[in-house]
Amino acid sequence: MNYFRKKIAVETLSANGKKLDGKVYTPKQKVQKIMGTLYKAIHQAVLRATAIILNLVIVGWLSVYYTIEAAVSNLTPASLRTLKSLGGRTVLVTGGAGGVGQELVIRLARQKAKVVVWDVNEKAMSTLKDRVAAEGFKIYTYAVDVSDKQSIYKNAETVKEEVGPVDILINNAGIVCGQTLLELPDYMIEKTYKVNTLSCYWTAKAFLPDMIKHGRGHIATVGSLTGLLGAYNCTDYSGSKYATIGFHESLSTELKSLGYDKIGLTMVCPYFINTGMFDGCKPSIPMLEPKGVAKRVILAIRQNEEFCTIPSRFNYLLPLKHYLPNKLGWLLQFRVLRTPHAMKTMRKFNEVEAA
Ligand SMILES: NC(=O)c1ccc[n+]([C@@H]2O[C@H](COP(=O)([O-])OP(=O)(O)OC[C@H]3O[C@@H](n4cnc5c(N)ncnc54)[C@H](O)[C@@H]3O)[C@@H](O)[C@H]2O)c1
Repeated sequence: MNYFRKKIAVETLSANGKKLDGKVYTPKQKVQKIMGTLYKAIHQAVLRATAIILNLVIVGWLSVYYTIEAAVSNLTPASLRTLKSLGGRTVLVTGGAGGVGQELVIRLARQKAKVVVWDVNEKAMSTLKDRVAAEGFKIYTYAVDVSDKQSIYKNAETVKEEVGPVDILINNAGIVCGQTLLELPDYMIEKTYKVNTLSCYWTAKAFLPDMIKHGRGHIATVGSLTGLLGAYNCTDYSGSKYATIGFHESLSTELKSLGYDKIGLTMVCPYFINTGMFDGCKPSIPMLEPKGVAKRVILAIRQNEEFCTIPSRFNYLLPLKHYLPNKLGWLLQFRVLRTPHAMKTMRKFNEVEAA
């Protein structure tokens, strides 16, 4: 319509005798030109309206189908679902030597995946390697500091040469400082973002091209519920975890739009886990155990879940923060969940560990 208005305006000026496009038109030509412009505008409007109606019909039908599909899938027990096999797949786990990472590695090795572990803690990696070997499996370990982009790129090349292309990438490494904003040293805020967020960019850039080339792959990231609801003592951690969710959602739209829908993306946001990371915190609901979290992460990957919270009920509860009045939301946080109280006693980060 704008196009039409603009054209008519030009013609009106021409009718006043001005030579806007350098030509002089007879009255008949002027009428013909206006009719031509009008026809073009109507034609374009009809085409656009048809496309919108067609899209609405398609979306309408598919929304019914996808809703039923999701409901059936949610109600079907995991044992009856078609799950992606991990046997023979090369799976890389960052931060794989401790906590949840270690449990992931053990379970993946038992499922006959070729597991590659990246961690800064070489001693823990060596102990894990022996433990897995005692069960008859082999894992590949590399001392990698994921806060260092160059180290990620260099070690990614080494892994490709020594083990092969990575089929499944699990961004699991994470750190937390446990201090309020004004107590937090600047370098620790930067480090938290480097480990928890930026590393996801560099690992994806390092391994995604092979996934695209082979037409299959999966990238999973262990985020946190604090990436959905900010918490006391967590300005660095919570912010860095929110960012991983944005990263994931955007990457997902890019891959789907470009037609790479055989590459799965999984974002997992767990509640507190009993690994030591949040030592000192006193949450009102007991912490999760790392074994259960690792099991759920693997299930989410195997059934191509795009997003899951652990426990899943938070998936339904957290969106309430957008609908409840702010003051009521804060009241629930402060008086019922008591999250600020739970986080206040959290251990502070260790300077030696952080150096
Ligand atoms: N523990 C919790 O309560 C909790 C809750 C929600 C989400 N998470 C997330 O789960 C993931 C695993 O946490 P966890 O509880 O197992 O932590 P953890 O501290 O037990 O283990 C983290 C592992 O990452 C490694 N790591 C740390 N910095 C690294 C670096 N720069 N480069 C390479 N490796 C590094 C550590 O050596 C360790 O092996 C993290 O992303 C964490 O943010 C944890």
